Amino acid sequence: MTKVTMTVNGKSVSGAVEGRTLLSDFIREGLRLTGTHVGCDTSQCGACVVHVDGKAVKSCTMLAAEAEGAEIKTIEGMANPDGSLSVIQQAFQDHHGLQCGFCTPGMVMSAAALLAENPSPTESEIRKYLEGNICRCTGYHNIIKAIMAASGQSVADVAAE
Ligand code: FES
Ligand code: FES
Repeated sequence: MTKVTMTVNGKSVSGAVEGRTLLSDFIREGLRLTGTHVGCDTSQCGACVVHVDGKAVKSCTMLAAEAEGAEIKTIEGMANPDGSLSVIQQAFQDHHGLQCGFCTPGMVMSAAALLAENPSPTESEIRKYLEGNICRCTGYHNIIKAIMAASGQSVADVAAE
C-alpha cells in the first residue's frame, strides 16, 4: 500500500492505496464521494469525469497514486459556497438536461471544463467536446441546450436530434 495525498474539493485528503487502485475507486470508496459515477471502467462512458488540476479527466483511466499532489474537483465541489446550484447545474435543471441522472455528474464536470476553456462554444463544439460522455436517456438535445444556456447563449437555435 502507498500513501497518497491530494486536495479534493478544496480539502487536503490522504489515504492508503494499492498500486492498481483507480482514482475513481479512491474517490468513491476511499473518500465516500459517490457523486462520481462508474458506468463502464473501460474509458467509454464519461460518468466518472472529474477535474484534475483543472482538466476534465475520466477518473477510471487514472491511478490514484498518479494523483499525488493534484487538485481534484468532483461533482460534490460544484455547488456555490452557499449550497445553491452552480450556473451549469441550474441550467441542467432548467432545461431538463437529465432524466435518470446517471451520466449527469460527468456531463456537468465536462461542461464546466469546456466552458472554462471556451466560454461561448458553438453547438457543434459542445457536441464534439461531449463525445466521450454517453447518455442513454436524453438524446443529448437538452444537455446541449443546458450548456448553451449556461454560457449565456440562446438555446432557440439548438438543432433537434
Ligand atoms: S466509468 Fe470511467 S469512462 Fe465509464
Ligand atoms: S440522464 Fe440517464 S444516462 Fe443520461
